[in-house]
This record gives sequence, C-alpha cells and structure tokens, in this order.
Amino acid sequence: MSAPDWKNAPADPAAVAAVSANGLEYRVLDTSDATAFDPYLQAEMRGFLAAEQSDEQLGGARDGLAFRRFVGVYDPGSLDVSQPVATVNSWVTEMTLPGGIGIPMWAISGVTVAPTHRRKGIARAMLEGELRTAVDAGVAIAGLTVSEATIYGRFGFAPATFGTDWSIETKRALWIGPRPDGRLDFVSRDQLRDQLAELHGRVRRSRPGEIEAWPGLWRRMSGTAPGQEDSAKVRGVRYADAAGTTRGIAVYRLGSEGPDFTKHDLELHYLLSETPDAYAALWRFALEHDLVSVVKAHLRSVDEPLRWMIADQRGATVETSEHGWLRVLDVPTVLAARTYSSPVSITLRVTDPLGIADGTWELRVDGSGTAEVTPVRSEADVTLSVNALSSILLGGVRAATLRDAGLLDADDDAVDALDASFASTRAPYLSLWY
Ligand SMILES: CC(C)(COP(=O)(O)OP(=O)(O)OC[C@H]1O[C@@H](n2cnc3c(N)ncnc32)[C@H](O)[C@@H]1OP(=O)(O)O)[C@@H](O)C(=O)NCCC(=O)NCCS
Repeated sequence: MSAPDWKNAPADPAAVAAVSANGLEYRVLDTSDATAFDPYLQAEMRGFLAAEQSDEQLGGARDGLAFRRFVGVYDPGSLDVSQPVATVNSWVTEMTLPGGIGIPMWAISGVTVAPTHRRKGIARAMLEGELRTAVDAGVAIAGLTVSEATIYGRFGFAPATFGTDWSIETKRALWIGPRPDGRLDFVSRDQLRDQLAELHGRVRRSRPGEIEAWPGLWRRMSGTAPGQEDSAKVRGVRYADAAGTTRGIAVYRLGSEGPDFTKHDLELHYLLSETPDAYAALWRFALEHDLVSVVKAHLRSVDEPLRWMIADQRGATVETSEHGWLRVLDVPTVLAARTYSSPVSITLRVTDPLGIADGTWELRVDGSGTAEVTPVRSEADVTLSVNALSSILLGGVRAATLRDAGLLDADDDAVDALDASFASTRAPYLSLWY
C-alpha cells in the first residue's frame, strides 16, 4: 500500500527557515530507515522523561508508528547528529462529530524539544509548521492531547472534551445497579488486543470527540507490545450478550501495598461498552471484586452512569480535567460537517492570531439540523477566538460559559441560540491518549 500524501508532505518552508536561523535543520523523516528512526524514537522517549529503549522496544515502536509522519529538528553541532533535538509526529485520523459523522483530523503527537535546546522557539516553529502542512493537505481540524495544559492555547487549540478519574471505596459505594444476564469471561492478552480493536471500531462513532485508534495503541493497552514492561499484570475480561457477541471489555491491573490481603487496588485502565448491559456488568465486576478495597478508574467520561449505580455517591472521588484539545483550521468545512440540535441563523466572527481560521461566516441550520455556512461581510452576532470555537464545536462546552468567562462576545439571545443548536445529546468524550 502506498503512503498517503500527508505522510511525506514536504517540510514547511517557514518552519525550515525559523529553525535554520538558529543553525538547526528541519527534516521529514524516512521511517523505512531504521538508522534514522531508532535514534529519533530514543530522542522522543527521552523528551517524555522515559528510559532508554531496548532493541525489542524500538522494533515494536517502529512497527507500530511507521504509518505516521515524523518531523525532526537536528543540530549539526550535536555530539550525536543522528539524534534530533526536537520531535513531532502527526497523522490523519477520523474524529466523530455530533450526529455520528466522522471528519478527517490532523492528529499531533510526540512534541518534544530537548532540555538542551528549550525556549528558542523550536516548538513554535514545529507546531505552526504542522498546522500549515495540515491546511495544505486539506484537513479542516487538528487535535492533540497534552502533557501540560499551558502549552497549546497560543496555537489556537482549546479543550473540547473532558475526562474524569475515579477513586471508589468499594465497601462504601456499594453496587445498586442492574445485574445483567450476559456472561463474563477472561480473555488472553492477544484476544484482548484484537477484541478491543474490533469493539472500539464499532462504538467510536457513538460519541462526539472519539477518534479512530491505531493497532499499536491496542498492543500497549493489552500488554502485548514488544518489550513492554509490567505487561504480565494486564488482565482483560469481556462481557458477551445472550448470542455470545462481545459487547464490552474491561482492562485492569491489580496491586496491593501493605500486609492486608483484602486491600488490593483495582486499576481500571479501560472500559469499553457497546450496550448498557455490558457497561453495568463490567463496572459491577470491578466494584464487587473480592479482595479489592479501592477501584481507580482513569479517563472516564463526564457523564458516567456509574454515579447512579452506587448506593453512596460520596464513596467515589471524581476529578475532572480537560483532555481532547481541538483546533479548527477551516471554519466552513468543520461547521458544515456536524449536525445540530435546533435551527439557528447566526453570524460568527472568528479571530485567529495565526490567520488560518480568521473570518466572518453566517451559520444557517435548518429544521433537519443540517448546516450551510457562507462567508459574509456583515456585522457579527458572535465574536469568538478560534480557541473558543474549537471548544464549543462538539457541544461539551457552552457558549454561555465562555461568554461569562470573557472568551466570547455576544448578547443573551445569540448565546442561547448558539447553545441550543450546538448541544449534543451525549457529552463529548475521548477515551484515548495520543
Ligand atoms: C513543551 C516543549 C515542547 C516546549 O518547547 P520549546 O521549544 O521550549 O518551546 P518554544 O521555545 O517554541 O516556546 C513557544 C511558546 O510556548 C511557551 N512554552 C514553552 N513551553 C511551555 C510550557 N511547558 N508551559 C507553558 N508555556 C510554554 C514559550 O514560553 C513560548 O511562548 P511565546 O512564544 O508565546 O512567548 C518542551 O519544553 C518539551 O519538550 N517539554 C517536555 C515534553 C512535553 O511536555 N511535550 C509536550 C507534549 S504534549
């Protein structure tokens, strides 16, 4: 299969010029050349404070990531010129919009600048270069998940989905939810990998904000990535309905500290369900697990039904944080791609310091929820930054909230109309890190 155009799109000329002003070279990597790819992957892992990778781990990473586009910044003065001093990778994936429609999204990952070369504008050159390359490739929106929430706002990104981390005292919370009839079975790690991929492929369109995953993600999640540390602790259980079809999967690890054997922690890394029965059965499995006193669940949605399935909601501590960051690149294409909850006719003035999404558009939504977006020169009802537009796009952040936070300018009527139209029936949710 030939590589898609975006993978080897040429290096952005402005980014090349920006880093060469510092005596550095900006290059798109040939991922078929392991002598270049291996040192690149070592530099990226070092940038994320990880240990040096073994040959086995490098082989797995090469295999799992080669489908992406990799850009490196190299310093000809380095002691090891094969290792870049900065990294970024990207690929085009599909993100679900309200209405269950997928839109191609420029996913950005692996942004690192070596601590020896920080704060010289290298990340800025790379990020702006990526956004321009995405625009040139005709991709209308970019997305990422972040290590620090302070980095990407300046490039027009803003949170559009949020995640919750749960810590549940099992004896206090107590299960009061349904007890579905289907069956639970342990699955091997290889089965776990394959079934996660299949089930996620079926359910990802049901939630705005979810993206298409990649095989390497399921390898890591299931503990089957080459050389993966701690993989022997990964456990998987699936829920099958009466017909024997897998409708849900939980991935977890057990651990304990101290001598009391009844006080294990169950770390629920992932719970994916296609039906309410599967959801209830898998949560009950975790909360009623013998010898477990605390269940810690990561990156759940903000509207978990679980809250209503336990006797004592205060038995669960829930922390919320922003998770999926989006950056609209092409306003009319993105706004026309989603469907809406109610008709609206409104003029939006979008400001973008990078000049990519700047402009004024009339958004007209008809009774079927379908939008038409046209450029206009008239006065705007709503003035908002590209960040604010990216936040409200999926319906998980209200325009009224951003207006009250001073991030959007509109009167009450315009804000109400926008919120009614943009509302999503299910809270946007991204269940993955990338
Ligand atoms: C974050 C990181 C990529 C920044 O690289 P850098 O080359 O030093 O960044 P730049 O010099 O291009 O800075 C660009 C802008 O971001 C700001 N910035 C950089 N790092 C920042 C941080 N960690 N928090 C807040 N602002 C930051 C700079 O002040 C600068 O602001 P300005 O241009 O608006 O004045 C680098 O510190 C790094 O590799 N960190 C560890 C890995 C990591 O967390 N990567 C992000 C993964 S999501």
